[in-house]
Amino acid sequence: MSTNLRIEEGRLVSRLAELAHIGATPEGGCRRLALTDEDRQGRDWLVGQLEGLGLDVRIDAIGNIVGILKGQEDGPAVIMGSHIDTVGTGGRFDGALGVVAGVEVLAALRDAGLTPKRDMAVIAFTNEEGARFHPDMLGSYVWAGGMSVAAAHAEVDSEGVGLGGELRRIGYEGAERPGFLPAHAYLECHIEQGPILENEGGGIGAVTGIQAICWLELTLKGRPSHAGTTPMAYRKDPGLAAARINIFAHELTKTIPHQLANVGVIRVQPANVNVVPETVTMTLDLRNPDDASLAQAEAAVRSFCAELSQRDGIEIAFRDLARFPATPFAEELIAEVERSAAEFGLPVRRMISGAGHDAQMMSRLCPTAMIFIPSIGGLSHNPAEFSTDQDIVAGANVLLSTAWRVANA
Ligand code: GLV
Ligand code: MN
Ligand code: MN
Repeated sequence: MSTNLRIEEGRLVSRLAELAHIGATPEGGCRRLALTDEDRQGRDWLVGQLEGLGLDVRIDAIGNIVGILKGQEDGPAVIMGSHIDTVGTGGRFDGALGVVAGVEVLAALRDAGLTPKRDMAVIAFTNEEGARFHPDMLGSYVWAGGMSVAAAHAEVDSEGVGLGGELRRIGYEGAERPGFLPAHAYLECHIEQGPILENEGGGIGAVTGIQAICWLELTLKGRPSHAGTTPMAYRKDPGLAAARINIFAHELTKTIPHQLANVGVIRVQPANVNVVPETVTMTLDLRNPDDASLAQAEAAVRSFCAELSQRDGIEIAFRDLARFPATPFAEELIAEVERSAAEFGLPVRRMISGAGHDAQMMSRLCPTAMIFIPSIGGLSHNPAEFSTDQDIVAGANVLLSTAWRVANA
């Protein structure tokens, strides 16, 4: 079904700017950690936008916000979405683009007086970032049935504050059962968050899938002692062990193809200049497009830690924070994204996503695909994250065209 449907450019850009205002940081980025007051303000704003379009707005028990446009026929919906939470030092577009572009798709249909054959919906999923509560993609994971509502509500942040209590505090524990809206297909528009599209001349990324991810928390215990009087050979220093683990993980990336490693959190206690630390808590983010290679990397880290423990007298405990396998997307939908990009005369290339996305969870339920647009300088999870208005509008138009075709097929 062909139409001349177009996203209203100015409105998309100004809606994104309005959302970016909520939790705006002096550096030009956003801080809307999941279930904080800033997240609540962002949610309130979003609900206002959805209600303003006359959509059926529902909230589920994990706080996912759903806006539904009724189609001509009953049956599963074509769902678009992403998240509006950010990391602590986030940018303006990560997640926000997918939600706001979804809103604009439904707004464009309303403006054109069009009703799709199938129901269409936009969802803002709770706690995608995993920056406050674990795992990442928690709202879509619960939606897809991978985690119970009770288990998700029992998650606590690094200060020991519970997710369920925060959801109630900000007024977003809804009545709906997560997953209540059956899905015919899921489409997510997102910034690339890496340098490839920009370096390859721009255009659209037709995302073929998401790499596997493993987040571990390691607690290292040594023996606190005086930094001036304890000879080096007598120390049990978990800070040194943490540094060795970090270097080991980085060296692994040179030997295991496509392996990535990051130590993003290191908390040292008691954190005094003249005390050999007692405890270090650190996180390790390991990713690889290949499940077996990721398993090999994790096994290597664990056996290095066992040796370190034995040799240096450091106790090391592991806890899983997140663990998701590599996720291929649906060929027929990837091809639809390519077709839409071609319709708009946009260059398009197939690519894998390095970041996790709600699409990874939704693909458990239905055919799924993603649309990437270039990130200037490849930067994301950084206040300087930026994409041009032209690319934002292009990505939203590809979402509109793809979603409309799938909703009428
Ligand atoms: C989500 O932003 C991730 O860490 O991939
Ligand atoms: Mn994101
Ligand atoms: Mn992110």
